[in-house]
Amino acid sequence: MIPYKTIIKIDRTSKQPVYIQLTNQFIDLIKERTLPPQAKLPGSRTLSDLIGLHRKTVVACYEELEMQGWVISVPKKGTFVHKDIPILQQQEWPEKLLGKKDDKTGFAFEQNPILCRNFPQHYADDYMYVNDGVPDERLTPIKDLSIIYRKIANKKSTFDYMNYGTTYGNPELRETLAGYLNETRGLNITKDNILITRGSQMGMFLTAQLLIKNQDYIIVGETNYSSVNTTFEFPGAKLLKVKVDKHGLDTHAIEKLCKKYAVKAVYTTSHHHHPTTVTLCAERRMHLLNLAKAHHFAILEDDYDYDFHYNHAPILPLASHDTCGNVIYVGSICKTVAPVFRVGYLIAPKPFVNECANLRRFIDRQGDAILELTFSSFIKDGSLDRHIKKVVKIYKERRDFFCKLLKEELSDYLSFEIPKGGMALWVTLNKNYSWETVTDIAKQQKLIISEWKRYDMTNANHNAIRVGFARYDETEAKEFVKRFKKTMQDY
Ligand SMILES: Cc1ncc(COP(=O)(O)O)c(C=O)c1O
Repeated sequence: MIPYKTIIKIDRTSKQPVYIQLTNQFIDLIKERTLPPQAKLPGSRTLSDLIGLHRKTVVACYEELEMQGWVISVPKKGTFVHKDIPILQQQEWPEKLLGKKDDKTGFAFEQNPILCRNFPQHYADDYMYVNDGVPDERLTPIKDLSIIYRKIANKKSTFDYMNYGTTYGNPELRETLAGYLNETRGLNITKDNILITRGSQMGMFLTAQLLIKNQDYIIVGETNYSSVNTTFEFPGAKLLKVKVDKHGLDTHAIEKLCKKYAVKAVYTTSHHHHPTTVTLCAERRMHLLNLAKAHHFAILEDDYDYDFHYNHAPILPLASHDTCGNVIYVGSICKTVAPVFRVGYLIAPKPFVNECANLRRFIDRQGDAILELTFSSFIKDGSLDRHIKKVVKIYKERRDFFCKLLKEELSDYLSFEIPKGGMALWVTLNKNYSWETVTDIAKQQKLIISEWKRYDMTNANHNAIRVGFARYDETEAKEFVKRFKKTMQDY
């Protein structure tokens, strides 16, 4: 008999019941063949005497082993290790492998470098980061939202939404959004044209998956929002790039490309081009819509920052002028309220919405109905509009303050146009400077400029990156500019 008394170790302080600890140790003995197939286990009374446990604990352990199929119990003969347990082929115990830095898979898969993004490392609290244009999380209306959320969660009728439901998103939010988007963005849709997503990115992912067959052509700006380039390239698209000037995408270049290639879609951030922040002018908007109709391509309009405009009324999206069903319009409340709330929408003709809903089922069975109901109420009672009014006022002041400071302190080193909206500037370094070196020196000032390369994936050498301003109040903006200036002086 194997020396159970020394092998079996029971931890009385563990939260794991004793009979489970015992069972797991028997499983290990069976797996490592200390107890080979058909080996007889000691009788329950014998084992309980040997290891000093109650007999009932040993019986419970044997029952558990039998239920899991490791042993069989033969009446009047005893308990035996199952005869067909194969040897587990492994080099090391998985416990040793898991959680290690050099964690390896035991199967082959391709690691695609285009998916790899280096997110900024987190430094100590006194570091500052250049961001792409993100909202100030301190302005999140979390109290108002949590009151609505709690009220909805406590309603008896909310139980109707606790189970599996529709993949299209909560019907109430779809209805509310249809009205809200018709009113604010000049759309002409019903709830059937809406799929609720977990943010604009999901809408773009679904679109790319459905539109692109290998090697299909998609037109994007040069430069462009790098994540969407990846979203298209991953399922196999070939990207055709057109210039972006101060009026946005060059639609004449698009027209030329359409004559040469069967273009599947054009991606645009028409309101404020990402990354350069320019607005697509009216003439080019109409031109693009006409081209889409003539060449039967889709326009994927990503209206990620529609709510943020400081100098004029918002420019209505291309989707509001689309009469031929060419525009797929995506947006979200993620920038407007807070990125943590993953609620967005994809607006398109019904057949496309239906297919997106069908596909969505396979990556995300459904959205968060309670959160969606919360936002439906937040929109309906006017809270979203009030929140937008409040933050737009703050961000406009911040934009003006930040731009003034940057001009006063740093115009020897860089240039930028004051953006009409959005949350970021497109900042170009003067010829003698490079972001690569600036990034290195800035670190000494506890200023982190991560991912500057993603603004120039094709090495166009425009020497510009986005610098978000919305997240900095006046004190933070001053500190930011101070660190930036010191960086440039040390260059
Ligand atoms: C241009 C652009 N589109 C889409 C997104 C994704 O937005 P969401 O959080 O709604 O998925 C971002 C996020 O930064 C963005 O900058």
